[in-house]
Amino acid sequence: MNIGIESVYIVSALMFGLGLKLLSSPATARRGNMLSALGMLLAVVATLFNQEIIDFRFIAGGIVLGSIIGVLAARLIAMTAMPEMVALLNGFGGIASLLVGWAEYNSTMAPTTFTAVTIFLAVMIGGVTFSGSIIAWAKLKEFWIGNFGISKAFVFKGQQVFNSLLVLAILACGALFMMNPGEGYQYFLVIIALAFLLGIMAVMPIGGADMPVVISLLNAYSGMAACAAGFVIHNNILIVAGSLVGASGIILTNIMCKAMNRSLGNVLFSGFGSVVTAAGSGSEQGEVKPVSVSDAYLLLEAASSVVFVPGYGLAVAQAQHAVHELSQLLEANGCEVRFAIHPVAGRMPGHMNVLLAEADVPYDELVEPDDVNPLIETVDVCMVVGANDVVNPSARDDETSSIYGMPIVEVDRARVCIVMKRSMAAGFAGIQNPLFFKDNTRMLFGDAKASLQGLVSEFKHD
Ligand code: TAP
Repeated sequence: MNIGIESVYIVSALMFGLGLKLLSSPATARRGNMLSALGMLLAVVATLFNQEIIDFRFIAGGIVLGSIIGVLAARLIAMTAMPEMVALLNGFGGIASLLVGWAEYNSTMAPTTFTAVTIFLAVMIGGVTFSGSIIAWAKLKEFWIGNFGISKAFVFKGQQVFNSLLVLAILACGALFMMNPGEGYQYFLVIIALAFLLGIMAVMPIGGADMPVVISLLNAYSGMAACAAGFVIHNNILIVAGSLVGASGIILTNIMCKAMNRSLGNVLFSGFGSVVTAAGSGSEQGEVKPVSVSDAYLLLEAASSVVFVPGYGLAVAQAQHAVHELSQLLEANGCEVRFAIHPVAGRMPGHMNVLLAEADVPYDELVEPDDVNPLIETVDVCMVVGANDVVNPSARDDETSSIYGMPIVEVDRARVCIVMKRSMAAGFAGIQNPLFFKDNTRMLFGDAKASLQGLVSEFKHD
């Protein structure tokens, strides 16, 4: 054991742990991110000083190429495309672990049973993570294959039996491989092929609003694969980092399931989005009541309490600064303002928190649905800023709805609800929203940023 490197790894591991702790609050999240990144840099540099690694020229080339790709991706990818990027990064993590396992097997060809077990785990979990993440990425990108929109759940009769047989086949090949790794190259290759197939088959039946759960689950898998790869090459920091990613991914998956009031089994096997429910048929549900910016201003000007409910449309419109400016004008007008943040609003965990933090909205104005719902009948105006699924009353009232049971911000129970969106289009789950047809709802059609700026001008010219 190299005491020097192991000591640096311990410091890095502590930095990861502290970084994760800081990430749990929006106020300290940036520091947490920096600290964890610094910990990883330290671990990488320490590893580079290890004498057993490959030629420095390869490493330098890899670092330069990786850094260029990383910087470009971070600069060029829009915030709204983050989930796709996270899906790809999970996939890269998975394939890296697979390749580490493969390389170690190639270099020894007759590993001990323990190493063979870890190679099997790294390759199997890494393979499932890679192909599953590529499918998740294609689903989030909403690719089409012929007439089939890949973002929809793809289910067929006997799918679960097929997938179970696939798992059994992988385990059987794994057992044959581990019993005699020196002679088991053919089983090893079959494991890789079946793991790729399993990743595809496991993610294909998932669609619509369940995708965030899948992304965080794949994130957990990528951590587990890295942890197994750490055991393969006896690298302690890889084991620690992999375990942290795996554990935090599982915790996040659990939080998201709770936010949608679903069990993980239900998310993975129910085929969400494969059928269009009655509420999703887009059938007429009555008249909508459009409102102009000036009329919306009159409602807001008279309000003594306003709750903003931001959603994905806020991110698309980049309306975070405009909504903050309006909230300040409302406060100056003597109005109490809060922002109700649904855990799965937007397209990634914490999406709304990040945007509102960027615009310096005070953290104490952010409330969760559980805090605001009991008081919502006393709220004068709920301003829905580009949210749809997370305020859809079908989730509460319509047992046939595919989102039935998902907690929502119950804006329909406020005195007045103003919905800001561009059209009558459905949200991510692809289902109609009865909120738009309620008596106390007014539709403020248009780009959210333009509408908010219009309201700001009305207040300023008052
Ligand atoms: P959505 O249900 O996706 O609805 C967003 C609405 O924003 C759309 O109806 C769209 O209507 C409107 N919009 C888009 N661009 C706009 C613009 N420039 N100005 C004004 N409005 C605009 O959003 P949500 O309520 O935030 O719900 C999130 C959904 O995404 C959930 O189903 C959730 O499960 C899913 N999801 C969440 C995550 C995470 S982790 N948060 C990840 C993936 C998926 P128009 O086109 O008519 O404007």
